[in-house]
Amino acid sequence: MGLALVLLLACPGSRAQVQGPQGAELAGRLGCLACHANRPGGRLAAPLDGVGARLTAGELAIAIAYPRQRHPRAKMPSYAYLPPMEQAALVEFLQTLK
Ligand code: HEC
Repeated sequence: MGLALVLLLACPGSRAQVQGPQGAELAGRLGCLACHANRPGGRLAAPLDGVGARLTAGELAIAIAYPRQRHPRAKMPSYAYLPPMEQAALVEFLQTLK
């Protein structure tokens, strides 16, 4: 599913085909894929494909709220400021990336 989803999320306004997950919409809006994407010419972070298979929900939640706990030198911003519901929606979305 990877590429199709990434393309979909990369275009704001094309959310129609993303079924249900409010988290996917959030990920698009927050610009997660500006860093986490396969792009020619270098990328800032690994693509998120498969992250739902590699990390548990708890690990994903920490990765979003406290990125440096997982990767001390990561340039990823903390999303701890998001309302808990939105953080949970992001975790739920990431869990679908298997
Ligand atoms: C400024 C760039 C940037 C942005 C924006 C960003 N990230 Fe990250 N993220 C990183 C970097 C760098 C890492 C460290 C590991 C890597 O290179 O993938 C990371 C790590 C992660 C990890 C842990 C991956 C692992 O294998 O441990 C997750 C999950 C993650 N990001 C999700 C998100 C989500 C969801 C968003 C949007 C809400 C987001 N990121 C926004 C740069 C970014």
